[in-house]
Amino acid sequence: MADPVTLFEMGPRDGLQNEPARIATADKIALVDLLSDCGLRKIEVTSFVSPKWVPQMADAAQVLAGITRRAGVSYAALTPNLKGFQGALAARANEVAVFTSASEGFSRANINCTIAESLERFAPVLEAARAEGVPVRGYVSCVTDCPFDGPTAPAQVAHVAGALRDMGCYEISLGDTIGAGVPDSVDAMLRAVTGAVPARHLAGHFHDTKGRALANIEVSLDHGLRVFDAAVGGLGGCPYAPGARGNVATEAVVGLLHKRGHATGIDPVKLAKCAAFATSLRGDP
Ligand code: HMG
Ligand code: MG
Repeated sequence: MADPVTLFEMGPRDGLQNEPARIATADKIALVDLLSDCGLRKIEVTSFVSPKWVPQMADAAQVLAGITRRAGVSYAALTPNLKGFQGALAARANEVAVFTSASEGFSRANINCTIAESLERFAPVLEAARAEGVPVRGYVSCVTDCPFDGPTAPAQVAHVAGALRDMGCYEISLGDTIGAGVPDSVDAMLRAVTGAVPARHLAGHFHDTKGRALANIEVSLDHGLRVFDAAVGGLGGCPYAPGARGNVATEAVVGLLHKRGHATGIDPVKLAKCAAFATSLRGDP
């Protein structure tokens, strides 16, 4: 039997953040509760970001207040700065995530600062989280390609991932934000990053714009990664990454992993029903 693999569900956050029409808070809560019933143990519920930047996530506190919390499930939230962390803490998020980029162009577009400034901004978040006993995850976006700056140098990804790990992030999620990565570029990137951060502290976060996400996950498995981000129904896209499509669908990743003999703890039948509900929330056909 192959090693177990953990899926970090992104549907309620990465999946819905880009939806132009306002989704009812009750529907977001229902989605999170359905996901926890599928056996997922890590769910990114929402983000505490500026509502002017991402209006769809403005009800972050209400969503976290409304869900039915299952024992053993970690309900996570994105927090770009201390203000976001304080919101997440008050709303009883079980873990938080800071997020930056390996490319300057996307960092500026997404969080309005340079990579170095973002890391400075995260230091007090990590400090406050440590004092409160809240685990912090770190995201690096544009790990192979950036919509503004073109291809990303693997050494730059290793540098930013190493900085997040040194700050105290328990896991670094490597984001192919626009789904432009291919097995060769992912392989080159992971060779560099695993030299700076051991694979057991890394996760893969693949958008599926060009249909290469599953192949990129297989390469990542070969490099020893055992955590993957995915969104039920393949929901999503990033508002500040032109052309970005949804995360790879959770049900597709579960199918691949089970076929390869990796246990996930996820019930594919329940997940399929959840995917149907998730896609019904989406505005476009
Ligand atoms: P800014 O405008 O430079 O920030 O935005 P500021 O500090 O000057 O504050 C401006 C206003 O925002 C102020 O309000 C602040 O109070 C408010 P005003 O005085 O104008 O009324 N503000 C906040 N409000 C709520 N929560 C907060 C917060 N912070 C400030 N936490 C900022 C900087 C980072 C806040 C902004 O750029 C932002 O919110 N960006 C988030 C963008 C985002 O959420 N993108 C999508 C998630 S990342 C992603 O999808 C990639 C990922 O999936 C991985 C991958 O695929 O690669 C993770
Ligand atoms: Mg993403």
